[in-house]
Order: sequence, then C-alpha cells, then structure tokens
Amino acid sequence: MAEYQFDVVVIGAGPGGYVAAIRAAQCGKRVAIVEKQKTLGGTCLNWGCIPSKALLDSSEHYHMAKTKFKTHGIDVSGLKVNLKQMMKRKEDVVETTTKGIEYLMKKNKIEVFKGTATFKDAHSIVVTGDTTTEVTGENFIIATGSSVTPLPTVKTNGKNIITSDEAISLKKVPKHMVVIGGGVIGVELGSVYARLGAKVTVIEFLDRLIPGMDKDCGKALQRSLSSHCDVEFHFKTKVTGATAKGNNVKVTAENSKGETLTFDADMVLVSIGRKPNTEHLGLANVGIDCDERGRIPINDHFQTKVPNIYAIGDVVRGIMLAHKASEEGNVCAEIIAGQQGHINYNAIPNVVYTWPEVASVGKTEDECKEAGIAYKSGKFPFKASGRARAAEESEGFVKVLSDKETDEIVGIHMVGPRAADMIAEGVLAIEYRASAEDVGMAIHPHPTFTEAIKEAALAATGNRPIHL
Ligand code: FAD
Ligand code: NAI
Repeated sequence: MAEYQFDVVVIGAGPGGYVAAIRAAQCGKRVAIVEKQKTLGGTCLNWGCIPSKALLDSSEHYHMAKTKFKTHGIDVSGLKVNLKQMMKRKEDVVETTTKGIEYLMKKNKIEVFKGTATFKDAHSIVVTGDTTTEVTGENFIIATGSSVTPLPTVKTNGKNIITSDEAISLKKVPKHMVVIGGGVIGVELGSVYARLGAKVTVIEFLDRLIPGMDKDCGKALQRSLSSHCDVEFHFKTKVTGATAKGNNVKVTAENSKGETLTFDADMVLVSIGRKPNTEHLGLANVGIDCDERGRIPINDHFQTKVPNIYAIGDVVRGIMLAHKASEEGNVCAEIIAGQQGHINYNAIPNVVYTWPEVASVGKTEDECKEAGIAYKSGKFPFKASGRARAAEESEGFVKVLSDKETDEIVGIHMVGPRAADMIAEGVLAIEYRASAEDVGMAIHPHPTFTEAIKEAALAATGNRPIHL
C-alpha cells in the first residue's frame, strides 16, 4: 500500500525479528527493522547464545586439557587460564556475528532504524534514538524479546550480584559463585566458571536440575557436573536474601525442612528465568493488553487483537529459544505475504550446552503420563558405544520414547557427547512421524555417537539393541 512507507516494520532485531525481516524482504515486501541497541542480533547474538557458547567452548578446552589430556597421552605443563584473551575471543565472535546481520540487512535492502519504537497508532510508530523519527507501516511484527526476571529478595548490583548479562564478561574467575536457579543459564554459565576453577553452589527451588527437561537428564547432568568440577547442589531450597559487603556476598536460603542455610560467596548469579519486553512499546495506544505473564497474546497466525500487528519470539507464549523465535519470524513473514504457514511446536529441540550436553525433542516421560500416552522406553548408555570409548566420553545415554500402540516416536532425550548436534536426527524423526522401528532400521555410520540413537530406538521396539 503506497500510503505507508513500508509493507512490514519489524520491532526488535533479535533472531526472531531479523529473520522475519529477511523473509519478508525475500517475499518482495518493503521492510524496515527498528532496534534500540547499537548492534543488531538481540539477546541471542549480544548477551545470550553466541557469547555463552564461545565461553563454554573455551572453558571446555581448558578443562579437557587439565583433566583428560593425560589419559590421551598428552602431557602439558604450565597450563593456565588467560581470561582476558578468552573474553576478547568471545567479543570478537560476537562482533563478527552481529556485523554479519548488518550485512544481511543491506543485502536484503531492509532499512534499519536505531532507536526505541513506541506505537502511536496501529499504522505508525515513533522511533526515539539520537533523533526522533515517525515510521509508518501496513503491518508490524513485534519481536522485542525478553530480559532477566528480577528476584525481589536479591537486588543485583552489576558487580558481585549479577545476571547473565554481566556473567558473560567477568574480569576474573570467582572463588565461590552462588548460582540462584538450576535452569539452563545456571548450569551453562555455572559450568564455565566451575571449569575455570571456581567453586560453584547451585540453589534450585524445585527438586532437580534443569527441571523443564526429562527427569533422567537432570539426574545424569548433576552426576556429571559434580564428578568433574567443584559443584554443589541444593534442591527444594529458596533463596531469601543476599547482602554484599565489599567483595563478599552473604546469601541466605531456606530448605524444605525449614532450615536456614548461609553461603559466603564472591559472586552471585541470579538466573531464575526471563520476562517478555513490552515496556516503552506503547501497547495501550493500540489497545493491546498483556496476559498474566506479561506476554503479548496472539492467535495461531501470530496476530494480536489488532490484525495488522503481529508478535513473535520471547515476547509471546512458548519456550524462549532462539530457533523458536526465528522459525516464528520466518512463518509470520510468509503469512503476511499471503502464504500458508505452520510450526510444529512439538518438534522444537531444547539443548543445554554443558559437557556432557543435554538435548531433547518431543514429550518427556512425565508429559506422556500427563497426556495419557501409553509409551515404550528404549535407553542406550554411551558406555556401551565404541566411539564414546575411543573418545573417552562415555557418560550419559540416549532415550527413545515411542507410542505403545503405533511405535511412533513421541520423544527423544539424551545426555552425552555432541548431543546438541545429534538431536537434529530426533527432530527429523518427530517431524516425519517416524516409528522407533524406522530409526532402528536406518543405517548409522560406524563408529559414531549417533549409533546410540539407533540402539535406543531398537530398544524401544522391544529388546533388540545389539551392543547391550
Ligand atoms: P531478543 O533476542 O531478545 O531480541 C529482541 C530485540 O528487541 C533486542 O535487541 C532489544 O534490544 C529489542 N527491543 C526491545 N524493545 C524494543 C523497542 N521498543 N524498540 C526497539 N527495539 C526493541 N536460546 C537458544 O535457542 N540457544 C541458546 O544457546 C541460548 N542461549 C542463551 C544464553 C543466555 C545467557 C540467554 C540470556 C539466552 C539464551 N537463549 C538461547 C535464549 C535466546 O537468546 C532467546 O530465546 C532469543 O534471543 C529470543 O529472540 P527474540 O528475537 O524473540 O528476542
Ligand atoms: P530457566 O527457566 O531455565 O531456569 C530457572 C530456574 O530457576 C528454574 O529451574 C526455577 O525452578 C528456578 N527458580 C525460580 N525461582 C527461584 C528461586 N527464587 N530460587 C531458586 N530457584 C529458582 O531460566 P534461566 O536459566 O534464567 O534461562 C532463561 C531462559 O533463557 C531459558 O528458559 C531458556 O528459554 C533461555 N536459555 C536457553 C539456553 C539454551 O537453549 N541452551 C541457554 C540459556 C538460556
């Protein structure tokens, strides 16, 4: 429509927003994207997935050199951590990646506005940055993401009571880091500093680690983390306060027996979840109310109650993951361009990049029980895998859950080496509605870690794993 400057205006340049902008441009739309930060890429590229994985990789190399090289017949001396260089490499990776998004915007002729977007009405926003600009559009996609959920009893100070935003840029390795929340950020960033020599104490409200994932995964991960590093866990425990005095922080907590626990730390990481970003958007000006969890309500086509305003990613319902945000961006842009779009939310993989890695797709055993799905479970441990033994990486397992009647795979869960990459096979199996028999029949290369998936699938079809 010529009366508007753009066909599609995307608010927020994270993995949801920038993918939506590219796809809309590919579909022939005139597209603009608005971002309030100086760099593009959102949480994922600047403070989330990319920097945390850069640090996880570097710290794992160090830890491997320290703990496993000797067994492989490699003697090293003088091994030490150069945290400054580790952080510099991480920053270089982030810079190259965010610059790549700038390049993609130019390549796809997407106009970039730097500033905070506020709705004026359903077809216009005001962008406030170095200058103030009004931008009009036929359609808008809100992709403003999420930020750290604060813990009312623990006030962060950016110095020694911090969130993941600061934890990716520490200047020295803490002596004792208390991690509040044993979810994915807690175990990933806790692992980084534990590998580099910190004592890490994880305090988790629920009864296990990474409680959103299959029960067996949390247990196996806990075992691995406590055997490799100086990590201690307190479950069913609620943090009641944290007071910083100079370089020290005293953390108080209460366990399920009503006992008070105290911890002396030099760093406290608050990682109890994230909340949608909707402030400054001016949603009231277009009549959009958020739900009880602060999310923007949408229908199956990502439309808010204002039909030309769409929303995707962390700011809407569903799991807060980069690949979920990106796929929603992709499909939302196609819907706006008049195409059909669909996302199979059951086939979204979930990965925890500790070592061993944890990865899953589909339903957990608890979810199967809740949904009344009668299932069979086949499990194969990596200690029975030749490839795992050759790599000196025998911890963990693959578990395949399949429907008792039809044999259709309903969930795959794994803890082990390279699980993050291997889960893609599970995603395809669920997407194509494969049976455990299908995966068990597929020829997997030998020797690889993926053979454990085939064996677990055979176990799910009956008692047929070969190497167990
Ligand atoms: P975001 O990436 O949050 O982007 C939203 C953008 O909108 C931001 O750049 C923000 O500045 C901008 N914005 C907000 N309001 C306005 C406004 N009014 N005007 C203009 N711009 C605005 N996910 C994974 O899948 N894998 C991982 O390994 C992973 N690791 C993570 C590690 C950490 C430490 C954290 C914190 C998160 C991690 N995540 C990971 C989650 C992932 O980062 C998010 O799910 C993903 O970034 C969500 O994408 P999004 O596009 O919805 O929002
Ligand atoms: P999370 O939801 O994964 O974990 C938070 C944990 O804190 C939960 O286990 C919860 O029970 C616990 N908790 C809540 N309140 C508590 C309290 N008062 N005291 C003690 N424990 C408490 O959230 P997290 O780790 O902050 O990560 C946020 C989101 O970012 C994740 O849910 C995920 O969507 C995304 N993310 C994804 C990653 C990946 O894909 N590898 C990596 C990092 C983040």
